[in-house]
Amino acid sequence: MILGMNKMFFLVILFVSLTSTAQKTQNLVPTPPMGWNSWNKFGCNVNEKLIKEVADAFVTNGFKEAGYEYIVIDDCWQIARDAKGKIVADSVNFPSGIKALADYIHAKGLKFGIYSCAGTRTCAERPGSHGYEVIDANTYAEWGVDYLKYDWCNTAGIDPVKAYTDMSNALAKSGRPIVFSMCEWGTSRPYIWAQNVGHLWRTTADIQDCWDCKRDWGGMGWTTILDMQVGLEKYAGPGHWNDPDMLEVGNGHMKYNEYIAHFSFWSLIAAPLMAGNDLRNMSDSIKNILLNKDAIAVNQDKAGIQGKKVYDDGDFEIWSKPLHNGDVAVIFFNRNEKKYDFPAHWEKAGIKGNKQVFDIWKHSEVGTTKKIKTISIDGHSVVFFRVKK
Ligand code: GLA
Repeated sequence: MILGMNKMFFLVILFVSLTSTAQKTQNLVPTPPMGWNSWNKFGCNVNEKLIKEVADAFVTNGFKEAGYEYIVIDDCWQIARDAKGKIVADSVNFPSGIKALADYIHAKGLKFGIYSCAGTRTCAERPGSHGYEVIDANTYAEWGVDYLKYDWCNTAGIDPVKAYTDMSNALAKSGRPIVFSMCEWGTSRPYIWAQNVGHLWRTTADIQDCWDCKRDWGGMGWTTILDMQVGLEKYAGPGHWNDPDMLEVGNGHMKYNEYIAHFSFWSLIAAPLMAGNDLRNMSDSIKNILLNKDAIAVNQDKAGIQGKKVYDDGDFEIWSKPLHNGDVAVIFFNRNEKKYDFPAHWEKAGIKGNKQVFDIWKHSEVGTTKKIKTISIDGHSVVFFRVKK
C-alpha cells in the first residue's frame, strides 16, 4: 500500500513537471556555484556588519581569487511585510537596508544572495514567500540579488513542484538573472523534476559539523550525506546540480583530516562549494583546505560530471570523476578509525595502462599507477589524486 502511494505521488509529480512551464534563467551555473552562506556558523545571528566583514575577508583572504563568488545571507534577515506586502528587512541588524549591502558586495566584484521559504513562514519563523512570490522576486531584482536560497518549512498542504515552479517563474520574469537554489531537502526527489526549475537542489536534511552524527530532527554528519548521494550522479550536470548542503570545514568540531576528506568529496561529487565558517577568523590550515586550487579545479571541471563510488569494501571505498581533458580524479577513502594499506585498484576507477599520478593535497606528482600498488591512508582520511590521461 505504501509503495503504491509512493508510486502515485511520483507519477503525479512527473506529470506536473512535464506539463509545467518553468522558465528558469539558463547558463547561470555552468559549474557548481561557489561562495559563502551564513547559516552553518552564525544561524540567526546575522547583521550587515558581519556580512560586510565577510565580504572584505573574501577578498583579503583569497577566496575571490580562488573562484568563490556568492555571499549569501541565510534566514533571519527579514522581519515583516509592509502594508503593500513588500518584505521588510530587520532594521536593527540591517540599518542601511539590503540594497546598500548588495551594492557593497557588488563593488567588490562579488555576487549577493538571500534566503526565503516556500512556506508561510521560514524555518526560523520569519515571513515566508507563499503567496508573495512575484512581489518578492521583483524586490530581490530591485535590490540586486543574484542568488536565492528557497527553503521548505511551514508548507503543509503546499505542492512542491508548484511552489518551486511559481518562484522560478517569478525570478525569470523579474528581469534579473538570479540563481535559484532549492532547499526542500530531497523530500519530493527534486532531482527527478527540477532540472528546468532550479539551478541546484538540496538532496538531504541539514548537514552538521560532524563525521556521522545524527540529530533527532534529521540533521546529520557529512559521511551520511555522502552515502545518500549514491545513484544521484545522473541528475547533475552543467546548469543543474545536486546540493548535498553547505560546507562545515573550519567550524571546529571535526579533525583536520576529516575536514580534508569532507572538502575532497564535495569537490569530487561536483557539489556547490559554499563555505560555512567564519571567513574573518580562521587558521591557515583551514584556509589551505578551502583554497586548494587543485581540488577546486576538480569541482569546477567544465565537463560537469558528478563523481561516483566505484568500489566498496565496507570501510574502504574508491570514488572517481572523469574530467574534461581525459584526466580522472580519484579518492581512496578510509572510513575506519585505524590506518589502512589500501590496494590501489586503479582499474576500478576506469584507469588502464601506466599513468602519472598527481596528489591533490601534496600538490605534486607522486609516481605512476604501475609503481603505486598500495596507498597508506590514516583513519577517517582520504587520498585524493588526479590521474593524468
Ligand atoms: C533549514 C535549511 C537550512 C537553513 C535553515 C534556516 O533548516 O535546510 O539550510 O537555511 O533552514 O532556518
